[in-house]
Amino acid sequence: MNQFLRCEGIHKRIKGRDILKNVNLSLHEGKVLGIVGPNGAGKSTLMKIIVGANYPDKGKVHVMDVDIHCNRVGAISHFAFLIEEPGFYPHLSGGQHLELVARDRGISEIPQEAMNFIDSSHDQLKKKVYGYSMGMKQRLALALCWTMQPKLMILDEPYNGLDPQGFVYSENPS
Ligand SMILES: Nc1ncnc2c1ncn2[C@@H]1O[C@H](COP(=O)(O)OP(=O)(O)OP(=O)(O)O)[C@@H](O)[C@H]1O
Ligand SMILES: [Mg+2]
Repeated sequence: MNQFLRCEGIHKRIKGRDILKNVNLSLHEGKVLGIVGPNGAGKSTLMKIIVGANYPDKGKVHVMDVDIHCNRVGAISHFAFLIEEPGFYPHLSGGQHLELVARDRGISEIPQEAMNFIDSSHDQLKKKVYGYSMGMKQRLALALCWTMQPKLMILDEPYNGLDPQGFVYSENPS
């Protein structure tokens, strides 16, 4: 089975405190890995290091055997990520965001798995994102991740702000 992600000996010190100490993990194709821990334990910090948005003081991250901190552009094409607050273009609609991502990834049709996250009762695809509620932003962010059809998804608190219907969609994508 292919190894999609490998972290080796990750150390991170922030403001004089050791946040991550010798973190090692690996993730193979088709597997799901959950990272749990108390608030402030370092989960988001680790995920930012995995996606190349932060640097470790020591250690290496390989995505599809590409070292993320040496070749972020090469590694990033393989994954989608959602860490803490999703970022959007506020004056574009949800639909325009999906189109942009699909075009960028060479995807001709938005997959049904992505559309399952969109709440049609709010006309979400037509509305500009500045008018979105927190849960609508989270749904759009998840839809964008699924649109990319990545090999690897890094999701930090993906259920933030979702209503029970949002959970159903994410558990049973048709
Ligand atoms: N930019 C920063 N400046 C100062 N301290 C930081 C910074 N980023 C993270 N930290 C500290 O690093 C520690 C780990 O933070 P992190 O956000 O990774 O925790 P977490 O496990 O994701 O927590 P939560 O469950 O609340 O999301 C915390 O003590 C936090 O205060
Ligand atoms: Mg966090």
